[in-house]
Amino acid sequence: MTVLSVSNLSKFFGSELIFENVTFSLLKSEKCALVGRNGAGKTTLFNIIAGIEEKDGGEVAVSRASKISYKQQEIIFQGTIFEFMLDEHKELKLIEEKMEKNPSVNELEILMKRYEENGGYTYKATIKSVLKALGFEEDVWSKNVSELSGGELERLKLARVLSSNADILLLDEPTNHLDIIMISWLENFLKSTDKTVFFISHDIKLLENVATSVVSLFNRTCKKYSLNYLRYKEQFEKEIEEILKTNELNAERISKYEEFVRKYRAGIKSGLVKSRQIMIENLKNNVKDIALDRNINFRIETSQRQPKVVISFQDVDLGYEYPILKGLNFDIYRGDKVGIIGKNGAGKSTLVKGVLNELSPIRGEIKIGENIKIGYFDQKLNNLNFENTLYDEIFYNENISSANEVYSIMARFGFEEDDGDKKVGVLSGGEKTKLSIIKLILEKPNLLILDEPTNHLDTDTVYALKNALIEYSGALLVVSHDRFFLEGLTNKSICLFDEKYYMDIISASEMIEKFIMKTEKTKDNIREKPVSERKVRVNTYKLNEIERRIKELENRIDILHRELNETTTDWEKINLIHNEIEKLEEELLLYYDEYEMMKKGAV
Ligand SMILES: Nc1ncnc2c1ncn2[C@@H]1O[C@H](COP(=O)(O)OP(=O)(O)OP(=O)(O)O)[C@@H](O)[C@H]1O
Ligand SMILES: [Mg+2]
Repeated sequence: MTVLSVSNLSKFFGSELIFENVTFSLLKSEKCALVGRNGAGKTTLFNIIAGIEEKDGGEVAVSRASKISYKQQEIIFQGTIFEFMLDEHKELKLIEEKMEKNPSVNELEILMKRYEENGGYTYKATIKSVLKALGFEEDVWSKNVSELSGGELERLKLARVLSSNADILLLDEPTNHLDIIMISWLENFLKSTDKTVFFISHDIKLLENVATSVVSLFNRTCKKYSLNYLRYKEQFEKEIEEILKTNELNAERISKYEEFVRKYRAGIKSGLVKSRQIMIENLKNNVKDIALDRNINFRIETSQRQPKVVISFQDVDLGYEYPILKGLNFDIYRGDKVGIIGKNGAGKSTLVKGVLNELSPIRGEIKIGENIKIGYFDQKLNNLNFENTLYDEIFYNENISSANEVYSIMARFGFEEDDGDKKVGVLSGGEKTKLSIIKLILEKPNLLILDEPTNHLDTDTVYALKNALIEYSGALLVVSHDRFFLEGLTNKSICLFDEKYYMDIISASEMIEKFIMKTEKTKDNIREKPVSERKVRVNTYKLNEIERRIKELENRIDILHRELNETTTDWEKINLIHNEIEKLEEELLLYYDEYEMMKKGAV
């Protein structure tokens, strides 16, 4: 069943065409990835679908029964984290209020039906589990939304979309600001939800593991592939090759015919010239105008030679009121490429601040070698002035002496000359990140400290950045959750975990494996926190309704188990039954949670 259909959509910014003839539709439960290079117009397309950006032509239609959830750009919300999450379910709140006003039996029945259909008995449990999975433990639920850092707010917005009861989720780069454990949780969540998910991501692993289809935004239009990401990639490359080959053949023919026309314009063969001219016209119409993504390719130079020991941590405790990291004791040598991994809040940014001397150690000493010139990439893009044009941001740099140099470095990062006139503030997420990296490498640092540099970057740029960093002769400290990016780039890994650190000469993925296993073990040991003593009036209608639903689900699961026992050879059927049992059990777990909570009067 089609839940969303887009037809003939077009969009301009000023005179610049972003896309046209965009037509595709999404089916119920489909997991579709929207891919395309930085600045192709993906976010713009989402904004149009969600109705927060004007379109210049075409239609967006959402099936009558469906609802879209998309994260808001700007949040002006006065209230706590938990209230912010509840706010996504306003209609349930209304029904709850009506149910509490002693309605007639008939009305109550109708209300309860609507309540159940909208996930009324499970939404609070869902909110809680999503919050926890995305790093918001119970003790922060009463914190005010306005107190959150930028990264935390992005994560909270994602949590709100994921726990909404909409049937279509639009996710724009959901893995930014998540740590590796949250990313694998998100991956499983997306794979198992029966909602329709339309998502933008540059995380290759997420694309491979989740997408069942792909909409490719390329050459100022969209095409849909009902293939998984790997198969789509193969198919897409083939198509491009075909087009290029045909274009080449056509170009050869055209120049041959033009030669003929020139030679025989006058004289006896001039009759044939007319026919050749028609053929030229025809071929020219057939040349597919594809603006292939420009080759992104750059180097990162260093100006000064580094000392043998670049950074030395000597018995360092780092933190604020309390140490977050204790007993840091290690050296980073010339040419070392070190990956820093750890859960959100484990102290990665604290470690970086220590090296940048923005934070003094509580104990011990951090020594930076002589002649070290640090280049720091900060996720918040603090080195950009949003009011400047792209051109000026690059031009007013001491190592730039001509306009040509500006255009040449822009081209190496995939920008066109026209982009130079754009204000930095209107650039897409990936374009801003690229500009920040350009400014950074113009300084020719010999120690690079990068805090999550691949967020927002398209896959071609991630490849290019990775290659440039592999070739880079300076030392590198990089915080990243991108499994693909780190692989083969770093020679050492620091894992921050539970106030301790582990440093080893192993790859990031080996470290991640060790690390995830440790986390899982600790999780098992964490005991449930006691529920607050606060008692609230238990809503008996709701409680009865939940009990009824639990019984229903338990009965259905029993029946399915019996059926399973009787089916021994029909694998397809067995598979179907398994899937259904899993799904029902998941639902049942949520009801159990809600039931327990209501009994305790916790919420
Ligand atoms: N308000 C605006 N005025 C002018 N140009 C704009 C405006 N907003 C966006 N653009 C341009 O439109 C293009 C598409 O932007 P969009 O943010 O949709 O790209 P994207 O595909 O989401 O990129 P990314 O992968 O980097 O997030 C970009 O080149 C951007 O610079
Ligand atoms: Mg975008």
